[in-house]
Amino acid sequence: MKIVAYNGSPKGKNSVTHLMLEEVLKGAREKGAETVNYTLSEKNIKHCKGCFHCWFVEKNKCILNDDMEEAMSHFEDLDILILGTPLYFDNVSGMLKVFLDRCIAYGSYFIEKDEHGESKHIDAYKEKHNGKPAPKIVIISNGGFGEKSQFQALEFMMNRMARNMSSEVIAKIFRGQGPLLGMKDEKLRPIIDDYRKLLQQAGREIVMDKCISIETQEKLDIPLIPVDIYNQQINNR
Ligand SMILES: Cc1cc2nc3c(=O)[nH]c(=O)nc-3n(C[C@H](O)[C@H](O)[C@H](O)COP(=O)(O)O)c2cc1C
Repeated sequence: MKIVAYNGSPKGKNSVTHLMLEEVLKGAREKGAETVNYTLSEKNIKHCKGCFHCWFVEKNKCILNDDMEEAMSHFEDLDILILGTPLYFDNVSGMLKVFLDRCIAYGSYFIEKDEHGESKHIDAYKEKHNGKPAPKIVIISNGGFGEKSQFQALEFMMNRMARNMSSEVIAKIFRGQGPLLGMKDEKLRPIIDDYRKLLQQAGREIVMDKCISIETQEKLDIPLIPVDIYNQQINNR
């Protein structure tokens, strides 16, 4: 099984997103997956110009000369696509969004209706990869606030995007109080270590079962520390 994670944090390898991706991929490798952790902040990926050269002039070819082709080379024979992002204004980071917009070059112009009768583009991945379905999607995000509800808009957007990619979101890991994971405070050490182990468990389950078990998901969703105490600590800084 091949898994590629795209890290959309502008902080790159110093980000909480990176830490989370590394643990999930570690668990996935333990179950035999081949993994890539791709740091978008280290690459030059320009904004989509919206010219549709990639659809109407040269199929799948973008006019922009940057690292996008290299980034997309990991899509070959891909089983699971992990999108990692900090929560920015309730949504993906601009960096991840720029990358996602550029993926249009690899999509299809043609329209079909989904099982609910709603229009979408046809599955270009399947067409291009001898019938292999589009990779399943895993979302990994962290934000500054404590509650899981903070990720509602991101979750909705990702489900819509997956639908249009003829895929589905098979697992979501939303970490409120994310900045705690990057702290060196000794008192937090056991909490962070336990959470890292949970992320590895999630990675193993994603490879074995293509989902995260209810038990692991429930543990992943528990705030690292009580929300009111967290808020108080932030306010007293
Ligand atoms: C521009 C910007 C917007 C943000 N918006 C939110 C937000 O809407 N909700 C939230 O919980 N945290 C928000 N945050 C906090 C980040 O999600 C948080 O610092 C996170 O830990 C950064 O993750 P990273 O280290 O992976 O980049 C925002 C931070 C920035 C810089």
